[in-house]
Amino acid sequence: MTVVARGVLDDRGDGPGRLGTGRAHGKAILLGEHAVVYGAPALAVPVPQLTAVAKARRAGGDGGDEISFAIAGLESPEVTSLPTDGLQHLVTEFRQRAAVTEPMRVDVLVDCAIPQGRGLGSSAACARAAVLALADAFDRRLDAATVFDLVQTSENVAHGRASGIDALATGATAPLIFRNGVGRELPVAMAGTARTARRSDPAGFDAVLVIADSGVSGSTRDAVELLRGAFERSPRTRDEFVSRVTSLTEAAAHDLLQGRVADFGARLTENHRLLREVGISTGRIDRMVDAALAAGSPGAKISGGGLGGCMIALARDRRESAAVVRSVQQAGAVRTWAVPMGRFAGHDD
Ligand code: PMV
Repeated sequence: MTVVARGVLDDRGDGPGRLGTGRAHGKAILLGEHAVVYGAPALAVPVPQLTAVAKARRAGGDGGDEISFAIAGLESPEVTSLPTDGLQHLVTEFRQRAAVTEPMRVDVLVDCAIPQGRGLGSSAACARAAVLALADAFDRRLDAATVFDLVQTSENVAHGRASGIDALATGATAPLIFRNGVGRELPVAMAGTARTARRSDPAGFDAVLVIADSGVSGSTRDAVELLRGAFERSPRTRDEFVSRVTSLTEAAAHDLLQGRVADFGARLTENHRLLREVGISTGRIDRMVDAALAAGSPGAKISGGGLGGCMIALARDRRESAAVVRSVQQAGAVRTWAVPMGRFAGHDD
């Protein structure tokens, strides 16, 4: 005889009480942000240390839809029950795409360890985790394209015109090259993901990526709008920006595959210069970039939407990453994360 606890029965059933779980993680854009909105390629990496976990529990009782959304996170340790417009929109779309005909009576709690407004994919990761939890709670199998579309629905509300890179990168297990809504994972090992180094991999990209939070929240929507206005006034500036970033990102993807850390770094710094030129960087981020380079980093730049947010810097090994961390902290970074790649990916020391 098998004895099953009541709670467990509830969790695994397919009606009221069923608990669904969904997970996603943060991301950092290495090159191509903003230009990607205009058709350039962009390169992003998953940041598995930064997680979003959603639990969706179907509620019992009669009546129509009753959806509660709550988000617990770093910024506000207490749970907030005010979902973003994007997440509200997502539930409506989920019902349609997953063909849910019964009333949607469900409580969703997203536990998000990804700081908001830092270009680390917090909104997309929350949306992805919520979609996967809802699918699990309603016992629906969603293909990757449907999950992407649903996250994009929410991102478009949150960000204005979102390219889709966050929607994809927050579920990726390797560096991702993304262009015009299509992403391809590159065979480069990253710590904490399912993908570790394989014999068939080309050359190892042995580096540590240092991500440093400037402590200032930037609005991606405002940044995208700022550039849209500037580019409308000067299409030539747009074309030059997009074409230069395209060349840099394509070359950087080859460097990544061939393990050329120094060349890759130089392209990061050049991309930073282009982003600063169009007005996306801030004084503090520029100081952090300079500090990383002064500590020996082969390349550093602002990452993501900008007007605040994070800086990324490359380091050739752990000792160099520790020096970069110290230096960017002195320049104003409030938090840092190290993301090991290639040869370092399998080691947590
Ligand atoms: O979420 P963020 O701040 O990393 O910004 C996303 C990147 C942008 O290119 C600025 C916007 C987009 O939708 O691609």
